[in-house]
Amino acid sequence: VPCSTWNTFFVDTVEGLQSLLPEVRHQPLLVLGGGSNVILKPVFPGVALLMRIGGIDYLPIDDADVDSRQMLVKAGAGVVWDDLVSQTVKAGWSGLENLSLIPGTVGAAPIQNIGAYGVELDQVFHALEAVRISDGQVVRFSKEECGFGYRHSVFKEALKGQFIITSVTFRLTGAEFAQCNTRYAPLNQYLDDHSIHRVTPEQVRKAVCDIRSHKLPDPAKKPNVGSFFKNPVIDEACWQALHERFPSMVSYPQEAGQVKLAAGWLIDQAGWKGRVSGRVMVHDKQALVLVNHEAGSADDILSLAEEIKNDIRDKFGVTLEIEPQVYPQE
Ligand code: EPU
Repeated sequence: VPCSTWNTFFVDTVEGLQSLLPEVRHQPLLVLGGGSNVILKPVFPGVALLMRIGGIDYLPIDDADVDSRQMLVKAGAGVVWDDLVSQTVKAGWSGLENLSLIPGTVGAAPIQNIGAYGVELDQVFHALEAVRISDGQVVRFSKEECGFGYRHSVFKEALKGQFIITSVTFRLTGAEFAQCNTRYAPLNQYLDDHSIHRVTPEQVRKAVCDIRSHKLPDPAKKPNVGSFFKNPVIDEACWQALHERFPSMVSYPQEAGQVKLAAGWLIDQAGWKGRVSGRVMVHDKQALVLVNHEAGSADDILSLAEEIKNDIRDKFGVTLEIEPQVYPQE
């Protein structure tokens, strides 16, 4: 669905961004990478910045204490995320392979700490650079300063709307020294089914690409933002009570007496999988994904999400939280 704004700019260098900011910083800013995790209302009353800063550079680690089998790779905010994954894996580096095929760009990835198939971005994150909107200064953020959590970072809350990420640096390990992470059950199952026992990063990438392509609709063909809700985290007492009522409920124990539930399971059990609501629908292979199959509006998607939320609250007493960002915010 087209979204019109007062002005749209392509940002392809840090300097270009710095010189543009005095002109635009007093208007609402919509900073977009691939636009694959946002719900856009038809009109955005401000300026859209389309981040296109490119470049992938490998930097040796000069810290003498650090393991020399590792390398830093710095990528511009506008690099397509999966191009970075594909290139690093091909070049013999491990760390990003479990995050294969996630839509979007490098600059957007830390904002929600993207994660999939047993790995979250913060596990391989080294640092990022961002331009402060108020004065155009470039600020470096270490991992600690980013405040990463499950689908969360400081850029989603405390520093929301204050910085524009321009590059991200990852710490990767030489493939020959890497311990591939294959703990996520469907990934493990896939490798077993294909009799792959000595796993390489390239094999993990292929497995993740296959699993994702089978379950998740391609946003270029069937518009969607991936998971529409976060997986809810509840305390153990609530989990006990729910588990007694629903013994087959999927759950993952977390730290500090918390338990993460699979929102997709809850939505599926509540009978929503594959349900069509006018121009939008719940994906028929993964209930956590809403698909805009007939060019529905942001409101069509948001009202379907609201219906699902209410139903899950009634049936399970669990409150789902929307995962993508909605613009303009109410
Ligand atoms: N399930 C169902 N029915 C469904 C969907 C899921 O019963 O319709 C069950 C599955 O059988 C499984 C559990 O729920 O036991 C979890 O499902 P799945 O492994 O597909 O993962 P998920 O929790 O639904 C999360 C991420 C995905 C990521 C996958 C794989 C969130 C919000 N979503 O989904 O991320 O790809 O794990 O790691 O954490 C995204 O953020 O956009 C995204 C796609």
